[in-house]
Amino acid sequence: MTPSDVKATLSFSDGSPSIDLPLYKGSIGPDVIDIRKLYGQTGKFTYDPGFLSTASCASTITYIDGDKGELLYRGYPIEQLAQQCDFLEVCYLLIYGELPNTEQRTTFTKTITYHTMVNEQMQFFLRGFRRDAHPMAVLTGLVGALSAFYHDSTDVQNARHREIAAHRLIAKMPTLVAMAYKYGMGQPYMYPRNDLSYSANFMRMMFATPCEDYKPNDVLVRAIDRIFILHADHEQNASTSTVRLCGSSGTNPFAAIAAGVACLWGPAHGGANEACLNMLEDIQRMGGVEKIGEFVKQVKDKNSSVKLMGFGHRVYKNYDPRAKLMRETCHEVLGALGLGNDPLFKLAMALEKIALEDDYFVSRKLYPNVDYYSGIVQRAIGVPVSLFTAVFALARTVGWIAQLNEMIGDPEYKIGRPRQLFVGSARRDVKPVAQR
Ligand code: SDX
Repeated sequence: MTPSDVKATLSFSDGSPSIDLPLYKGSIGPDVIDIRKLYGQTGKFTYDPGFLSTASCASTITYIDGDKGELLYRGYPIEQLAQQCDFLEVCYLLIYGELPNTEQRTTFTKTITYHTMVNEQMQFFLRGFRRDAHPMAVLTGLVGALSAFYHDSTDVQNARHREIAAHRLIAKMPTLVAMAYKYGMGQPYMYPRNDLSYSANFMRMMFATPCEDYKPNDVLVRAIDRIFILHADHEQNASTSTVRLCGSSGTNPFAAIAAGVACLWGPAHGGANEACLNMLEDIQRMGGVEKIGEFVKQVKDKNSSVKLMGFGHRVYKNYDPRAKLMRETCHEVLGALGLGNDPLFKLAMALEKIALEDDYFVSRKLYPNVDYYSGIVQRAIGVPVSLFTAVFALARTVGWIAQLNEMIGDPEYKIGRPRQLFVGSARRDVKPVAQR
């Protein structure tokens, strides 16, 4: 962090002594005001529920410019990474900070490939769930359960343990997500194959059965690999902040990632892709494109809780660059599958066009986000709606790990422990029940 030569002076209208607060400059993006000494010097806290104006850490991993609609992983634009790299190269970049050369890429791919199997005991955890359990409930349990197996990589203070845990989590998430899917289908699990690429392996574990193998279609494999890249990391979003706060207690990485899975499930966050597809299917059932006006009216009605899922973002006040790439992938996949006239895709594009011309959305800077088109692509690939967020969690695991390791690797990190503005009862005495 670079100290700025600008200082912030905080003064109080009640004559309390003013204080100077140092500013720090990032390499790009907004400066920060260092308030670490504020409480000690003033006895006052800052107040920022939802952390709209709070930088929780200094990071070198992902940069978002919400106004420009720009997303960089370790400085590389998401558009270039999505078009020129595969997901494991992006994993290497997020974890180690640089894109791999040929030798590093070969070694990393081999390492990940040889960690894709899970302990045979893992299958018995699934049996405790009903077959119709939501895959995110299953995945939260399975990821947490990994803590029970890998005692040789749970000391987060040990850099080598952190690296092995990172490899294991990246490698095993596709296997666990596919197991959650197969369990819900009542089909046997498919073991990973070492002769397949990361994404082809995932597709085969999902769609092959012991009765008939599955030859992954290259266009679909490329599409799912791009979905993974687009969802890999996203600065200090809710689930990443959850992983950081959880990991700050020194808990093992599997437990911290399980906390991230649980947070991502929410419809305001990673659950939005499932909610968005359900929304599109509801509009389709109501009558399709002709009913968009009626639906948008509900969204704009303050008394209704209806939201245009897949639209809006805390940071992007412009088009989410991932949504543009996802829409492109939609075209490619639907075209390759002969579904160019897919009614849901046409409905989504019609709804997007109408929303982007409607002042309610324009004035609030509400644009499509990553979740708006990802559901249509996944549905076309054959991923069931209920598994969309689990696929998001699979992809985001590398981002969570990179962010967790960055925090733990910082000698200055402390356990996270926010304070509060207390607005409840002042001290009072308990009365005997007869007097209450
Ligand atoms: C992800 O943080 C990340 O980076 C997340 C993510 C990642 O990669 O990790 O990008 C992934 O979570 C993407 C977001 C997915 N969520 C959705 O698509 C759900 C629908 N979107 C909204 O719930 C909402 O836009 C949020 C939660 C995403 C952002 O909400 P904010 O920043 O808290 O903004 P807000 O709720 O205060 O909205 C401002 C105004 C409000 O109206 P007014 O009170 O000003 O009249 O915009 C309205 C909101 O009601 N609004 C919407 C809306 N989103 C915001 N109105 C209708 N439909 C929407 N989708």
